[in-house]
Amino acid sequence: MAKIIKAKVYRYNPDTDDAPYYQNFDVEYETGMTVLDALLDIQDKYDSSLAFRWECRGGQCGSCAVKVNGTARIACRTKVEPDENLLIEPLEKMPIIKDLVTDMAQTTYRIRRIRPYVSRDKLPEQHPEIIHAEEIEKLREIRKCIECSACISNCPIVHETWDYPGPMIIRQIARLELDPRDVEDRVAMAMNESLYSCTTCRMCTDICPKKIDIPGLAVELLRAKAVEAGYPLASGQQGFIDSVNQTGRSVPEKGIPLLKGIDTEEFLVKNPQGRVGFFTGCLIDYRMQSTGKALIDVLNRNNVDVIVPKEQWCCASPAFRTGDLTTAYASAERVTEIFEAAMEKYEFDTVIVACAGCGKTLRQDHRPLIEEKRGTPPKFMVFDLAEYLLDVIGEDNLVKPKGEIKMKITYHEPCHLGRGQGVIDQPIELLKMIPGVEYIDDPYKNRCCGAGGGVRAGQRELSMKIALTKREYIEATGADMVTTECPFCTIQLIDILKESDKGIQTRYIPDLLAESYRLGDEE
Ligand code: SF4
Ligand code: SF4
Ligand code: FES
Repeated sequence: MAKIIKAKVYRYNPDTDDAPYYQNFDVEYETGMTVLDALLDIQDKYDSSLAFRWECRGGQCGSCAVKVNGTARIACRTKVEPDENLLIEPLEKMPIIKDLVTDMAQTTYRIRRIRPYVSRDKLPEQHPEIIHAEEIEKLREIRKCIECSACISNCPIVHETWDYPGPMIIRQIARLELDPRDVEDRVAMAMNESLYSCTTCRMCTDICPKKIDIPGLAVELLRAKAVEAGYPLASGQQGFIDSVNQTGRSVPEKGIPLLKGIDTEEFLVKNPQGRVGFFTGCLIDYRMQSTGKALIDVLNRNNVDVIVPKEQWCCASPAFRTGDLTTAYASAERVTEIFEAAMEKYEFDTVIVACAGCGKTLRQDHRPLIEEKRGTPPKFMVFDLAEYLLDVIGEDNLVKPKGEIKMKITYHEPCHLGRGQGVIDQPIELLKMIPGVEYIDDPYKNRCCGAGGGVRAGQRELSMKIALTKREYIEATGADMVTTECPFCTIQLIDILKESDKGIQTRYIPDLLAESYRLGDEE
């Protein structure tokens, strides 16, 4: 017998309905079925009046974008999972014309506003005009856009304000900036279009059917050009960068820094099964010293020697994200030098981080940069703590935490850990290992908290708006505690949750894990 999928579809006809509603349909599943196939099946078998857009059915025209189970996707390229029900809704932030058909006027207006064509000041010198491949190499990737608007629908900034035109438009500005024939000041245009509102959360890349790296290839590229052209950073952003250049840390000291407080670089165990270096990052060193100690404790309990070089330097994530490449490059070289010297002295080849932003920066910014500069990448590998515990040590070999923590706990996935480094399930698996924890999944766990990309530092009001939306998602889980794996997200979540009347606590996963180990010792 054919397998039946339950499809819940958004319906609304403004001419006849008082309010939108959802309608349920049974769809016969077929291998390889796409969401568009399911919609066509519903239209064919149950209701020919169901309205949705489609044209090419081949991922090329961009017309079939809808929200599938909460996330914008193009329907003709999104496979139906045989064991999952479907929730199909129209794109967000756009008025409904009927059912799944949205009014694209806002987007069209924004496209028109940026004059999306090559602007020239002279006629081509010859016909046909010859453009050499190397001149357009950099724009090859961002030209792949099919203008489906899916990325606009799920961008956390557009969700809060149309002051930001959305990833699709910023990508188009970058494309024109890179076109050697275009003479418009596209950097000035990007600045007028709130270039610094993007949190670099990578939701757009995740959603994009062409997987275009908009934060890297468009947002950060335009920001670097803006800095080069002399546009000043917001004072909060510049403060971080000045601090990195003056002290090697992006924030001022508070209390005794972790690296000053420890009297040795070596945290060794009796029968080590491994040895790693620990890159603390600024916030764990200067603000969350207990988290740093918890990380060392957790690794030691799992028979791993931990080396903590006492001289460390900021990864310069704030500089990479906001476009100050001079600071960024200098820091990448310094961090590489420090850890390569330590790995030679202490014989390790793996560096552990517990900060999503640092991990992403070390892996995806430093690595290619150092390789480009000297021909070889940094000699060490970088792992997030949860990733190392589960993927390197492995669940079977992990020393299980025994102390009971009886709480309902949910998880906020830091953008730079989940979409940034592909570490998605490991933190949740760790939480589930703690006795007493009832893990509550938040369907919106991977939505940005609004702290990254220099937005908390540069545009606090916008950052808080995004955080308040995040708070609604967290509160809706009914959890007593939200956990995460990034100090920046932790600070942001603490800030918004302390204003809530729900009494939800915020904890960093290494702290929670270490607490369970300690409680287990006492039992
Ligand atoms: S990275 Fe995030 S905030 Fe920036 S444009 Fe993409 S979805 Fe929007
Ligand atoms: S960037 Fe990707 S998701 Fe955004 S409009 Fe273009 S193709 Fe669609
Ligand atoms: S129908 Fe053209 S992209 Fe889906």
